Amino acid sequence: MFNGAGSVRLTEGDTMSPYPVNMSVKPDVRAFFDDATNTISYVVKDPESNACAVVDSVMDIDYAAGRISFDHADAIIKDIRERELDLQWIIETHVHADHLSAAPYIQQQLGGKLGIGANIRVVQETFGKIFNEGTEFQRDGSQFDKLFEDGDTYQVGSMTCFAIFTPGHTPACMVHVMGDAAFVGDTLFMPDGGSARADFPGGDAGVLYDSIQKVLSLPDEMRLFMCHDYGPNGRDIRWETTVGDERRFNIHVGAGKTREEFIKFRTERDAQLDMPRLILPSLQVNMRAGQLPKDQSGRLMLKVPLNGL
Ligand SMILES: [Fe+2]
Repeated sequence: MFNGAGSVRLTEGDTMSPYPVNMSVKPDVRAFFDDATNTISYVVKDPESNACAVVDSVMDIDYAAGRISFDHADAIIKDIRERELDLQWIIETHVHADHLSAAPYIQQQLGGKLGIGANIRVVQETFGKIFNEGTEFQRDGSQFDKLFEDGDTYQVGSMTCFAIFTPGHTPACMVHVMGDAAFVGDTLFMPDGGSARADFPGGDAGVLYDSIQKVLSLPDEMRLFMCHDYGPNGRDIRWETTVGDERRFNIHVGAGKTREEFIKFRTERDAQLDMPRLILPSLQVNMRAGQLPKDQSGRLMLKVPLNGL
């Protein structure tokens, strides 16, 4: 079946769906909001077992002081331990430019495999140059346990989860679907928040529009979980919506907005935006799967390339 915009609509049981959508699986999703970076991390529990996944964790940083800490990640670890869950996957929807990942810290304590989109290699190539990294910085994604391609599936207990390749905000963005819940990363914001910027190196507004259409082609009732919310127009922070509500109400791409309209709007908006406060530390850490960079003597050290971004 086709909607007005001419894109293929995928519904449960629709044989046209290239993805193994199963809306009857309803995982328990627990959100952890980080008010320093407006990021939402998730613990997603398989309804049939004690298996779980973590999506987009956060490591705390006081950038001015050059000090890291783990309060946010510790809250997630505590929750998983208290519920005696078995952490099987630690998912990064993309290389975040506004917060640092705590994936290695969580993995060290709870195990689980760390996964990101296969195009991480493109991101590593780009930022390896910008940060003038030496040959010891591998650009093959080998810091991760799994590099997802479009449509790849993986198990969280009895749940068959899958990744949808959704580039545009960055070249390595993936949306992860677990039962009737999809974790959209920065592909979409809440309907009244619209969409994320597409002007980072390797970003592309037209490509982002096309990726968003893939998400909007999922079943209307699918729950969507945001990676960020900034409480537009003074409303309280929210992170959960549905495909149907995004399709009807998203202020940037909903109600049949065209690709041309979106590209024009997004490009003009992005030209006005400042760089995220934590982009320099975030990229250096996240392109290493959350490992902290070291200098030649082995000391933990971040760089500030001048006029590099
Ligand atoms: Fe992002």
